[in-house]
Amino acid sequence: MCGIVGYVGKKCCADVLVDALSKLEYRGYDSAGIAVFTENGIEIAKSKGRLADLSEKMKNEGKPDGNVGIGHTRWATHGEPSDVNSHPHRGGEKVTIVHNGIIENYKKLKEMLIAKGRVFVSETDTEVVAQLLDLYYEGDPVAAIARAMQDVTGSFALGILFADHPGKIYAVRRESPLIVGVGEDERFIASDVPAILKYTAKYYLLEHEEIALLDENGVSFCDMQGNTITKELLTADWDMDAAEKQGYEHFMLKEIHEQPESIKRTVMPRIENGLPDLHECGITPESLRNFRSIYIVACGTAMHAGMVGKYVIEKIARVPVIVDIASEFRYREPLIGEGDLIIIISQSGETADSLAAMRLAKKLGATTLAVVNAKGSSIAREADMLIYTHAGPEIAVASTKAYMVQISVMYLLGFELALAKGKIDEAECRRLTALLLETPDYIAQILERKDEIEAMAKHLLDAQSLLYIGRGLDYALSMEGSLKLKEISYIHSEAYAAGELKHGTISLIYKGMPVIAVDTQKALHEKTVSNIKEVKARGAVTFLVCGESYQPDADIADYCFRVPEIDDLLMPMLAVVPLQLIAYHASVQRGNDVDKPRNLAKSVTVE
Ligand code: G6P
Repeated sequence: MCGIVGYVGKKCCADVLVDALSKLEYRGYDSAGIAVFTENGIEIAKSKGRLADLSEKMKNEGKPDGNVGIGHTRWATHGEPSDVNSHPHRGGEKVTIVHNGIIENYKKLKEMLIAKGRVFVSETDTEVVAQLLDLYYEGDPVAAIARAMQDVTGSFALGILFADHPGKIYAVRRESPLIVGVGEDERFIASDVPAILKYTAKYYLLEHEEIALLDENGVSFCDMQGNTITKELLTADWDMDAAEKQGYEHFMLKEIHEQPESIKRTVMPRIENGLPDLHECGITPESLRNFRSIYIVACGTAMHAGMVGKYVIEKIARVPVIVDIASEFRYREPLIGEGDLIIIISQSGETADSLAAMRLAKKLGATTLAVVNAKGSSIAREADMLIYTHAGPEIAVASTKAYMVQISVMYLLGFELALAKGKIDEAECRRLTALLLETPDYIAQILERKDEIEAMAKHLLDAQSLLYIGRGLDYALSMEGSLKLKEISYIHSEAYAAGELKHGTISLIYKGMPVIAVDTQKALHEKTVSNIKEVKARGAVTFLVCGESYQPDADIADYCFRVPEIDDLLMPMLAVVPLQLIAYHASVQRGNDVDKPRNLAKSVTVE
């Protein structure tokens, strides 16, 4: 979703803003703009399209010249992507803003402002806030912000310039994330850490309903009453390289290759004496033992990681697990309460539906456990218990390494829970934990064979539609494989439980339709093979991902990729890699924008 940046320093502000915005491209956007204090007042440059379009426009029409300003990448919600709807927006002569989030009552406010004679130029909810700030502004920025915020409902982060306070940036947030970076002789605001990493690792996290002021003297914070707030200066543990491509053609490919290291960083510190140990995350065997039931609630890829978690936890810990899509969970009056554990999985920690689902679960008395990648994010801060995944910044919209560490955590939890419940003994828990630690090496071996997968992906390019099938954990994995393919290659695909095909979906099979079958679960192998034969008999072209000991006949697989074998339970850690690479190569070969697929945003901060 939208990205905000702001700069106060000595450098050419326009250049810094565009550079910082480029590090937020992963959030998804369709237009961009900046506003800078210049000798002639606040000048705005904005354009529909990519940052390159904005740069081109500034090359032709002139770049606002100054050292203080704000910038924005917009993911359209209210009004189509266009130059005029792009941020920054002015509210009269005095106020210029950039905005992330949604103003829910914008219509009512707009009517009120129009009745007062205000004229609007865009269709955005943002312009309403700009006008509202201008309406209340009588020389005191904090008072105007506080007053305007009383009228506004919704979630938002704002970067604000007041024309008669040159050199100063004001920022405020309600729900939507915003950080304030502090470097040598320069200060920043940003929606996320990667935007500032090139300049500084030091930042403050702006909290809900706090106002920040940045100028040449430093940064200060206050509440809505104007009372000064002292905040803790944090240090990002992501280095700058983490947000660069480092020679890879795309972030997605780089992130797929970072998976072995991400697993090690996430898993190793949580192992003590050969057994999972999550007590630093607030989780003990005693606490786990007492939960009545477990819900895993998330969106997108994170929800698919939850599906793997369900199969793992139910299989070895024998506790029922319900996996739910956050946007469904929150509106269906979930039957949860005291004694239930709700696990929220989120890479960004800011996904609006996941955050709301977690808050609802808390309100109903359940215990919440967040599995989150982004440090200090809203979900991380509000959960009762927290397991950080250590994937580092994930820039590509299509999630890969974050999924991998999310499922690693599902294994750790499953093992600890199974041991706590007495469903496995210590020796078995040690064996499984040791195997989990072996997965990075196996994944590295698979990555060396990426050419094989690239060749396989070539056969998918002309498909109108395809199916992913599997049983058990392979079905959970098929869901993720299918999502990866459709989000970045734009080829329609569905994941189906292999045994369910004949209850309807098999009618879709036509001669030449690609079917990707995942068959890594030995106990289900015979059954899966029968299902593969069923689609093959109807003309499907089959792509098999299976364990290395299986040598399929030609009547099963047209193409086959065999992965090393470890315990069946852990096979998703390995088998997901070819599925990620199939999607990646299909997208590259179709000439798509792999890291920034159309219409998608990485961090979905609206419902
Ligand atoms: C968006 C992203 C997905 C992600 C989902 C959940 O749809 O494009 O890649 O899986 O949000 O995001 P989260 O940050 O909560 O994991």
